[in-house]
Amino acid sequence: MKFLRFPFSLAAIALTLLLALLLSVEPALASSDLPRVGSSDHVGLTGAVLFEKNCAGCHIKGGNIVRRGKNLKLKTLQKNGVDSVEAIAQLVTQGKGLMSAYGDRLSAEEIVAVALYVAEQAQQDWQN
Ligand code: HEC
Repeated sequence: MKFLRFPFSLAAIALTLLLALLLSVEPALASSDLPRVGSSDHVGLTGAVLFEKNCAGCHIKGGNIVRRGKNLKLKTLQKNGVDSVEAIAQLVTQGKGLMSAYGDRLSAEEIVAVALYVAEQAQQDWQN
């Protein structure tokens, strides 16, 4: 009987640990459904979709069909001082010159997501 109890209690402990693990992981999974600041895949995907919908018309492949010198390539962004996620998000929110403001069309989270996407693509030279 003593022999039988030992593995049984081990199994019970393992089961408890597994349950605890599942319970602690679940809320994290649920909250990752929301776009959050940070580079999770979900934000990347949202950024890509937002870019496609709102920006690609003028900035296809990181270019600029309206003002070529104001494209989204890393070197250009650096030259124009728009080389941080914050700076990109601010420009998108307020608009500039012939580019309209997106502050009333996109949420703050969406603007950060699209700015992250632009920064990420610029780093990769718009290869993806
Ligand atoms: C109607 C065309 C148009 C659309 C749509 C558009 N832009 Fe622009 N964008 C421009 C123009 C024109 C400029 C140059 C502004 C200036 O400096 O005069 C610009 C500049 C920028 C810059 C700065 C580039 C640099 O090198 O200085 C960033 C970053 C940018 N846009 C991101 C975006 C994002 C992100 C979106 C989508 C949310 C977007 N743009 C949508 C036309 C557009």
